[in-house]
Amino acid sequence: MTDMRPFSQACENNKRPILAVLRHHLEGVDMLLELGSGTGQHARFFAEQLPGLRWQPSDLADNLPGIEAWREDYAGDNLPAPHPLDVTWQDWGIGIPAAVFTANSLHIMPWSSVEALFAYLGEHAPAGNRLLVYGPFNYGGQYTSESNARFDEWLAVQHPGGGIRDFEAVDARAEAAGYQLLDDTAMPANNRLLAWRKSAA
Ligand SMILES: C[S@@+](CC[C@H](N)C(=O)[O-])C[C@H]1O[C@@H](n2cnc3c(N)ncnc32)[C@H](O)[C@@H]1O
Repeated sequence: MTDMRPFSQACENNKRPILAVLRHHLEGVDMLLELGSGTGQHARFFAEQLPGLRWQPSDLADNLPGIEAWREDYAGDNLPAPHPLDVTWQDWGIGIPAAVFTANSLHIMPWSSVEALFAYLGEHAPAGNRLLVYGPFNYGGQYTSESNARFDEWLAVQHPGGGIRDFEAVDARAEAAGYQLLDDTAMPANNRLLAWRKSAA
């Protein structure tokens, strides 16, 4: 039988380091919405590793069949069907649970979509919401590595409007949406895992 599961080597490489940070921030959290789930590998792996958490994958409609394929051989009941979700939509069609996670998406979407994502969470996420964002970031307008600089050049060609985001600009959008930075964790391959918590209204 043909294996319909899309594969990303990067996901295989980063899933365990990400899991270690997620475990810390998701203690006591029973429901999470993932934005831009991509291949679905992360959703499949994290759902299995965090069985007390309901991991809701989502992405643009084109990616849902691949995510569904990763779900098919999973026996657990904490990985619901992927939800179609574009962060620029006025209505995401799903409630925002206690935690939101996204990996490697802010540099793929245009900045206006990043703004829309934070604005939506500012309006709809509950107080106390944990927002966890994994990916590369610049600091003080500088790349943190030569490889990130080269990756940004590639992004400019492959994803016009995309690009490695300035940590300060992203944190400013988060603050405007009512979030306070809890942690900024250095991750392998010059990535970061940013964690915010939404204050009470
Ligand atoms: C580089 S992939 C990362 C996928 C996966 N999270 C990972 O770490 O491998 C970027 C993801 O962002 C999603 N994405 C791009 N624009 C989006 C938008 N406006 N709303 C929701 N997801 C979006 C893409 O469909 C894709 O799945």
